[in-house]
Amino acid sequence: MKPQRILITGSAGRLGRAAVQELVACGHSVLGFDLRPTPGLAEFIVGNLQDTDALNRAAVGVDVLIHLAATPDDARFPRGLPPDDGDNFLSELVPNNIVGGYHVLEAARNNGVKKVLLASTGQVVDGYLDAGRMPVLASWPTHPRYLYASTKVFLEALGSAYAHAHGMKVIAVRLGWCPRDAGQVAQIAASPEDQDVFLSPGDAGRFFACAVEADSARLPPFAALFVTSLPLRNLLYDLTLTRELVGFVPQDSWPTGAES
Ligand SMILES: NC(=O)c1ccc[n+]([C@@H]2O[C@H](COP(=O)([O-])OP(=O)(O)OC[C@H]3O[C@@H](n4cnc5c(N)ncnc54)[C@H](O)[C@@H]3O)[C@@H](O)[C@H]2O)c1
Repeated sequence: MKPQRILITGSAGRLGRAAVQELVACGHSVLGFDLRPTPGLAEFIVGNLQDTDALNRAAVGVDVLIHLAATPDDARFPRGLPPDDGDNFLSELVPNNIVGGYHVLEAARNNGVKKVLLASTGQVVDGYLDAGRMPVLASWPTHPRYLYASTKVFLEALGSAYAHAHGMKVIAVRLGWCPRDAGQVAQIAASPEDQDVFLSPGDAGRFFACAVEADSARLPPFAALFVTSLPLRNLLYDLTLTRELVGFVPQDSWPTGAES
């Protein structure tokens, strides 16, 4: 396909670096946007999601916007019940994950961006896994347990609203666990269930390339897709819709790429 102009927020983070690496290798033109410089990328902006002028300038001429910048979930499990579940809801999650997501969708709308990928999480359906109901289908209603996941449910809803109102294609990407540091690698190593939601950086990068290159004419206005590597034991998330809509099939399984 013709090279796409892609803006990635959170480009310096774990998943951002995986997306940058694969999309640049595929020949696309990638612009990073992050609080810190993006390693290995020629073109990036050091900026904050709250700076709407900077975001709007970054989105000029963009074909696909991949929104990854957020306050991620770094709480250790098991954790308490909301509101004491380890997330700083009012000071971090609301301004960064909810207001920040709104600014990103506004920048996409203002600049006529045709396709937007929003980083959601498999945690939006944790309630089913707790109840032993698996594999979870992408079509089931969300069932979050924690405040972080609730901000991603709101982001999905915002994406759906913008898709239907403004004619852009929006995919909420319900990501599995791509560990950010050695501590998270150790947590997954100790938990067979977590190994089944593992997402390798290589599979993450390949998913973003598939989603960027998927024919927009064949996509619904809004879709929520699960993305994990191949489970070792139990299939927790049904990946059928992910394969059907964007053609992504995972290649790795735990622990491939966990340390990279
Ligand atoms: N890694 C996972 O296992 C996982 C799983 C599910 C969902 N997610 C989601 O995927 C996305 C990326 O996660 P990650 O693991 O790469 O996290 P990360 O912390 O490694 O990267 C996030 C990046 O976003 C940047 N950022 C944060 N706030 C920003 C702001 N206001 N303005 C500009 N940049 C900002 C940070 O500097 C960082 O580089 C997040 O939305 C996260 O919630 C991650």
